Amino acid sequence: MCGIVGYLGSRDAASLLLKGLHRLEYRGYDSAGIALVSPAGKLNVYKCCGKVSNLEEFLDGKDISGTTGIAHTRWATHGVPDNTNAHPHLSQSGRLALVHNGIIENYRILKDALTESGFSFKSDTDSEVLVNLIEYIRDSSGCDLTEAVRLALRKVIGAYAIALVETGNPDRIIAARKSSPLVIGLGKDEYFLCSDAASIIEYTNDFVYVNDEEIAILERGKQLRTVTLDNEEGHIDIRKLELSISQLEKGGYPHFMLKEIHEQPRTINDCIRGRINQATGEVSLTGVLDNMDRFLNARRIIFVACGTSWHASLIGGYLIESLCRIPVDVEYASEFRYRNPVIYKDDIVVAVSQSGETADTLAAVSLACKAGAFVFGICNAVGSSIARATDSGAYIHVGPEIGVASTKAFTGQVTVMAMMALVIGRRKGTVSNEDYDIISRGLLELPEKMKEVLKVSERIADLAKIFTYAHNFIYLGRGYNYPTALEGALKLKEISYIHAEGYPAAEMKHGAIALIDAEMPTVVIATRDHTYDKTVSNIEEIRSRGGRIIAIVEQGDDKVSRIADHCIEVPPVPECLSPIIVSVPLQLLAYYIAVYKGRDVDQPRNLAKSVTVE
Ligand code: M6R
Repeated sequence: MCGIVGYLGSRDAASLLLKGLHRLEYRGYDSAGIALVSPAGKLNVYKCCGKVSNLEEFLDGKDISGTTGIAHTRWATHGVPDNTNAHPHLSQSGRLALVHNGIIENYRILKDALTESGFSFKSDTDSEVLVNLIEYIRDSSGCDLTEAVRLALRKVIGAYAIALVETGNPDRIIAARKSSPLVIGLGKDEYFLCSDAASIIEYTNDFVYVNDEEIAILERGKQLRTVTLDNEEGHIDIRKLELSISQLEKGGYPHFMLKEIHEQPRTINDCIRGRINQATGEVSLTGVLDNMDRFLNARRIIFVACGTSWHASLIGGYLIESLCRIPVDVEYASEFRYRNPVIYKDDIVVAVSQSGETADTLAAVSLACKAGAFVFGICNAVGSSIARATDSGAYIHVGPEIGVASTKAFTGQVTVMAMMALVIGRRKGTVSNEDYDIISRGLLELPEKMKEVLKVSERIADLAKIFTYAHNFIYLGRGYNYPTALEGALKLKEISYIHAEGYPAAEMKHGAIALIDAEMPTVVIATRDHTYDKTVSNIEEIRSRGGRIIAIVEQGDDKVSRIADHCIEVPPVPECLSPIIVSVPLQLLAYYIAVYKGRDVDQPRNLAKSVTVE
């Protein structure tokens, strides 16, 4: 999705901004651009369709002088991806240049009003409307630029993160945000601006997160200042962010996705470290323990999430219901936020998000907060909007996930949910000591089991070659592994563009079984859980209709291996942790099929890593 980088200091802005844009590439985009204010105050704007490398070529021989600038990667929302719709957008006079993430929902009304006042527009974007609105307010009222930005933003309905520079002033960048991420990095006599702190981490560890409906004024030689849309001086809260650059690089792997799949033994370890006592198996999760009364008295737990995080939430729902005996609803955040849902004050809403910036999930959080529910976040990105908007939470600590297809975040989310369920279940007395021990030991063993399961990589690569031809896939699973089947299908869809559906294995016979033939491979999760025999029967049903079966089975399985065309073995783990292990071969299968099909694995078409618009 769109990305913003800005810089004001003494370094060469162009090269720094381009590097920042490269770091944002993983988020998905279709065009890129840059605005630089030269030392003499000249405003140079360059932009073009396609990759950041196209922009770099385009800049060759152009005036890119200056130590102040803003830059952008665009993921089209209003208007096709082309050079004109790319950001930055200039105001009609050419004096202001603006980059914008998000969507201005009332842009049509604003555009009509500006057109009546004599403005004309070059692009189809909502962003060009905003820069002209700012210009109009400044010119008609004679106020200064910060005030014009404030007054303009008060008229705007929607979500935004913006940065603005102007002709004649290489000493100031104005930025603002509402429901779209924006952070300011503090250096020595220099400011960095970004929609994703990770992309400027090589310059600083000191960050100020711009608050919702706040304007930040970055001025050369002056302290950072913020002002709210109500014109109140903001408070500057500097936070430390520790991340290493190596976490943002491929480390010898051909793709981030493959690196992230292989990182999972370590990321699971990072996720449980300090939370499970190696000797006693006792689990502690501060965010839950600190709010235990709320969990013990919760009428209901509602998970809200999107995509992969929603799949993890389904598993979280099974875990909480089974181990804590608390009723659970699992909701798509996008539906929940607009459905006028019944939310009780003694409900707990758990928002699950890797990026912590997903617009729908963030809106669901804000709705739940307004309704008075206790809101708990399960996020990966430290300091992200959802992490900050929730009452409490638990980070999954799997490190930056760059590949658009989520992998290590999914296994981290389920791991945190399993720990949550154990902590609450123990205090509620709903989980037996025996189950508690089995599951907490199972969690501790996960990193080693992950290493074991990754050994199937080559076998899966071979299997992927056989199935690269397929146009459709079905994924089946039961119980905890029904969401895993959904997740397996999503992985394949996203990066290979092959149509894939996930089903509860037993639901097949109510319709989808009509699709089965020799051209439709079925991936069945058939680990030895309490519905194992039922799943075996489902495999028989597919086989007798000529379907081809790839089964994920436990090591030593001899039943399924006799009836499936291909079996992939995984080590045994407690049933409720099975999705964490089983998802790995499914990630690898999707990955290798996509590679054999020549797809852009890390940046699949039309997708964005962090979906900050509705
Ligand atoms: O950052 P989030 O976890 O909130 O993102 C939610 C979805 O957009 C995300 O999981 C998406 O479905 C991934 N591309 C899945 O691989």
